[in-house]
Amino acid sequence: MCEPDLTEAERAAVQEVLRTPILSLGPQLDLFERKLAARVGARHAVGVSSGTAGLHLCMLAAGVGEGDLVLTTPFSFVASANCILYVHGTPVFVDVDPATLTIDPDALARKARSLARRGRLKAILPVHIFGQPADMEPILEIARRFGLAVIEDACEAIGATYKGRAVGSLGDAGVFAFYPNKVITTGEGGMIVTHDPAWDALFRSLRNQGRDVFDGWLTHSRLGYNYRLDELSATLGVVQVERLDELLCRRERVAGWYAERLQRLEGIVLPTLASWTTRMSWFVYVIRLEAVTERDRVIRELARRGIPARPYFPPIHLQPFYRQRFGFAPGSFPVAEAAGGACLALPFSGTMREEQVDLVCGELEEVLAPTALRALA
Ligand SMILES: Cc1ncc(COP(=O)(O)O)c(C=O)c1O
Repeated sequence: MCEPDLTEAERAAVQEVLRTPILSLGPQLDLFERKLAARVGARHAVGVSSGTAGLHLCMLAAGVGEGDLVLTTPFSFVASANCILYVHGTPVFVDVDPATLTIDPDALARKARSLARRGRLKAILPVHIFGQPADMEPILEIARRFGLAVIEDACEAIGATYKGRAVGSLGDAGVFAFYPNKVITTGEGGMIVTHDPAWDALFRSLRNQGRDVFDGWLTHSRLGYNYRLDELSATLGVVQVERLDELLCRRERVAGWYAERLQRLEGIVLPTLASWTTRMSWFVYVIRLEAVTERDRVIRELARRGIPARPYFPPIHLQPFYRQRFGFAPGSFPVAEAAGGACLALPFSGTMREEQVDLVCGELEEVLAPTALRALA
């Protein structure tokens, strides 16, 4: 489905770190944090062991605890909502906009208004899904009106811009992830960005077993975790963030090849940029089949022809343990469910060659044929 985009520079950087005795909490982490903060225009950046770890720490910083409510989207990877459960909060799902698949600000406002009186509403956790920014202006306005923190799940969206501003640095904190399928990879890894110096200090303590910078040897000021990012991963991140524009452009080019070839096919909807998206961070290339029942047949047919394709995303509220715990059933969030049934991710990475895209599109065309083909000009 995807391949990390690594060069000799990344390999040399890792070798270099291996020649030093510092393998954790060292200069590479420092450098990665400074470069990433500068890139997204945040005052602080804190490297962590994964995007999930970063989201967990953001929930703690936002003060989410037992019985508190966090507004978020059901159309995401499960970690976006699990982080709320880690701190014993409750995710309150709000359906998505059918075109952008990001949280619907009107539905969000209605939900916030209806829950505000209960006094347990703490935060909004929008997700920049597939590298497309959520509509942040109304989200920030709702947060201001109801006194809520905004934690951006930017795990899939490094480099994306909303009305010219980098995602991740628009709310109170934002989280990026660096798993090997991501635009930037460090193997495993993540980064929290924030403008708030108190949150920055808290994140540094929480990721390192609750030690404050001024704590003495083996003194722990609070309950913390081992969410550190090691030096080998951090040095990969340094080189990758230096290459970010190149990585984004290579993905943009592959997405362009797909769009060029697929636009004449009937029965599918191509990804589109929202009016507020000034730069998409092409994390995956997800098409939607117009006939929902078709999606699984297409995946099976493509697999038979040696082309991997995946359903993306089965909505979080319909995951077995969310159904069990919260009693969700189909019909709760119709837009997310329709998208979950129709979305199909094609093989995608910045390293793909044009002939590989040709091959995928050719096979897809045959799988959808004969009725789906528009008259060939
Ligand atoms: C939207 C979203 N949030 C959170 C995560 C979690 O990141 P990680 O896998 O680094 O824990 C991911 C990763 O796939 C993601 O896509």
